[in-house]
Amino acid sequence: MTVKRVLLDCDPGLDDALALLLAHGDTELDLVAVTTVGGNVALENTTRNALQLREYLGFTTVPVAAGAAGPAKGEARNAAHVHGDGGLGDVELPLPTLAPVDVHAVDIIIDALRAAPGEIHLVAIGPLTNIALALAKEPRIVEWAASFVIMGGSYTRGNTTPAAEFNIYADPEAAATVFAAGWEVVMVGLDLTLQALVTDSIRERMLQLGPLGRDLVVPLATYWSDPEDPDWVGQAVHDVCAVAYVAHPELFTCARARVEVETAGTFTAGMTVTDFRSNTPNSLVPIALDVEAFWDYVLESYATVARQLSARHQLSTPQLDG
Ligand code: RIB
Ligand code: CA
Repeated sequence: MTVKRVLLDCDPGLDDALALLLAHGDTELDLVAVTTVGGNVALENTTRNALQLREYLGFTTVPVAAGAAGPAKGEARNAAHVHGDGGLGDVELPLPTLAPVDVHAVDIIIDALRAAPGEIHLVAIGPLTNIALALAKEPRIVEWAASFVIMGGSYTRGNTTPAAEFNIYADPEAAATVFAAGWEVVMVGLDLTLQALVTDSIRERMLQLGPLGRDLVVPLATYWSDPEDPDWVGQAVHDVCAVAYVAHPELFTCARARVEVETAGTFTAGMTVTDFRSNTPNSLVPIALDVEAFWDYVLESYATVARQLSARHQLSTPQLDG
């Protein structure tokens, strides 16, 4: 199996953190860089969260670069009511001792793709502000990216407004730029990600991960519940699906479509208007997930990290004589 290289642009974020854990835990993925954007919470918090997760999980050789604090146009949105003011729910990680690189996220994205054309899968799981800025600075990234996968959008319903999903709604102009750039956007939207729910049985399997499950995965995966949803069965691990698509696209049934982003609608701003009948498609839209195989893959990847942490803890814990 060829190792796939991934650059992850994110706004940690509960599910972003779980996506980072997957990108780190899957030994068939090589996380080349993490870039952060303001989104779920402010940029300073999404960046701090990425740094804390990097040190806690042990991928300290992977550069973290901060990007845009918010959209170029319009007000900055957040989802702190879902992710908590800090962005990781009630998970408290040690403060980072290592700083982000002193390079803007946009330049990290451009430089990485330029240096390895056709090799790096660009995955964006927050608002698309950094990606749009990178396109404006270097349009050739559409040729250099091995693929471009987002968690964002929906071809039916929104989660932030009735029509718009958060990542798109947070910066509709950036999203419109991204979908019009000439590359194929793999749009892992709500219609797919709401199939990846942390049910009680999944939660029980997460608890089998030992301290990693108890102290990180379960608190991240169960922090939020929607009090207004009478049919609530569990949190959706939205962002994890985008990383899983890169690793195992065979778990996803997709259809091609043309996606246009509404930027001006009074009721529909941020809507990803999806035409599955278009003969000029710009997107590949996952519509069905092999849920059982998805969770088997994700939890096995998490178990890899659990074993790594256990071994590291044993090394750092002085063995008592006798
Ligand atoms: O709508 C879900 C998306 O918005 C996820 O990326 C989540 O992290 C939030 O950013
Ligand atoms: Ca996110």
